[in-house]
Amino acid sequence: MKRVAVLISGRGSNLGSLIDAADSSYKIILVISNIDGAAGLERARAAGIPTTVVPHAGKTREVFDAEVDQVLRAADAELVVLAGFMRILSDGFVRGWEGRLINIHPSLLPAYKGIKVHERVIEAKESKSGASVHFVVPELDAGPVIAQASVPVHPSDTPQMLADRVLAVEHNLYPEALKLLASGKVKLQSGLAVFA
Ligand code: GAR
Repeated sequence: MKRVAVLISGRGSNLGSLIDAADSSYKIILVISNIDGAAGLERARAAGIPTTVVPHAGKTREVFDAEVDQVLRAADAELVVLAGFMRILSDGFVRGWEGRLINIHPSLLPAYKGIKVHERVIEAKESKSGASVHFVVPELDAGPVIAQASVPVHPSDTPQMLADRVLAVEHNLYPEALKLLASGKVKLQSGLAVFA
């Protein structure tokens, strides 16, 4: 059973789905937030999971990341899961957790990296969008994809409507992808996601 730490910045609905879906392959042993008062922290506490707040204000990226790294290592975390964690991590941190660090992004990567995804998808009149779980590499949202799920985009969609539709599939996708990683069914090898 892999010891998993989840990093959040906000609502934590993906954290909630990961908590609810935990099986014998992983256990969430810690939730870290850079935002004191993030709603997801309450979700963790309600499930009896220890939480730590590491504020980022006034710190360089390297100092913040080193503090997070120290908290993760002190907790003996084996896998790190980003779930609505809205900070870019430094190359050093990412390299230190290479192959053990994953993220969920609300687009069909490699399309629509970065922010304001749903606005841009609608603007481009795409007919489908979705969510991707990927290994984190130093380049933003560029790591090898572990799993994806797609949703239709309707001409009448607002960004919020599309965000809600994507979020609903995220809640199944993320636990599935984490289980693949935690049970050794997918690995990062030579920059590729390799499936057993
Ligand atoms: C999710 O839609 C996730 O894909 C997105 O933030 C939301 C977090 O929701 N992540 C990113 O945009 C990362 N760049 P949650 O806090 O309810 O899990």
